[in-house]
Amino acid sequence: MSQPLSTETIYNKQAASWSRSEKILLSDFTARPRVIEALGDISGANVLDLGCGEGYVSRMLLNRSAGSVFGVDASSEMITQAKKSAAKEKLPNSHYAVGNAVTYTDFPTTKFDHAIAVFLFNYLKIEEMTEVMAKVKNLLKAGGAFIFTVPHPCLPFMKEEAPPFYFEHDGKSYLDGIDQTFEGEIWRRDGVPVSVRCVHKTFSHYFDALKLAGFQSLPEVKELSVTKEHLKLDPDFFAPLEGYPLHVLFKVQTND
Ligand SMILES: C[S@@+](CC[C@H](N)C(=O)[O-])C[C@H]1O[C@@H](n2cnc3c(N)ncnc32)[C@H](O)[C@@H]1O
Repeated sequence: MSQPLSTETIYNKQAASWSRSEKILLSDFTARPRVIEALGDISGANVLDLGCGEGYVSRMLLNRSAGSVFGVDASSEMITQAKKSAAKEKLPNSHYAVGNAVTYTDFPTTKFDHAIAVFLFNYLKIEEMTEVMAKVKNLLKAGGAFIFTVPHPCLPFMKEEAPPFYFEHDGKSYLDGIDQTFEGEIWRRDGVPVSVRCVHKTFSHYFDALKLAGFQSLPEVKELSVTKEHLKLDPDFFAPLEGYPLHVLFKVQTND
């Protein structure tokens, strides 16, 4: 049996398909705008973007007056693309580094105003996710927000393996699939699929990990799906997902 590709290899191979300057992936419509909305006013804020990929969300933040963004990603190709796009868009306050979010320590500052992790935790096991959350907790200023999105834990068990988004669950159940990797695909509106992965967790794991990491307040939780606006914009693309929970957004605030 062939070994599964490493996350770095998957993203190094498909960095060109992720590179974009406008909404094209399903989740550019269904998730990323909600991250921006949840952050609220970010004028002048220094934001940490863990698992930043090719920097699409970082650039959105800088174009909305964030003071600076520091992005870390395990894929060197994604970081190369991020640096190229930032240079092209003349965004000098973006800084990127190749690194594993679990072990990375070389941050340019000891405190950030806010932190995001947009579809990073679906690549990490529960223990690794908890370590990253604890690191974020220590890196955030008092009152800072940590916002992350993950695939909805029920999606693999609810939806068939078909475009424009799915995860295989390989016969595993919601409970015996915990910490197992589910392979999946998410589509771009131009018909190009990209490979994605989900290390399966249940809702409890996200709450427990935040608590273990030292976050004291309850997170805000939003279950994201396609909206009437998406269906109006492109019924052929979005209709197969109508009624399914696609992603979950968590927002937690530091008090101290
Ligand atoms: C689904 S992509 C999302 C990229 C970006 N956040 C966005 O929203 O466009 C997931 C990213 O997480 C990165 N990643 C996965 N595991 C990682 C890890 N342990 N440390 C850092 N980055 C990781 C991948 O290389 C990939 O770029």
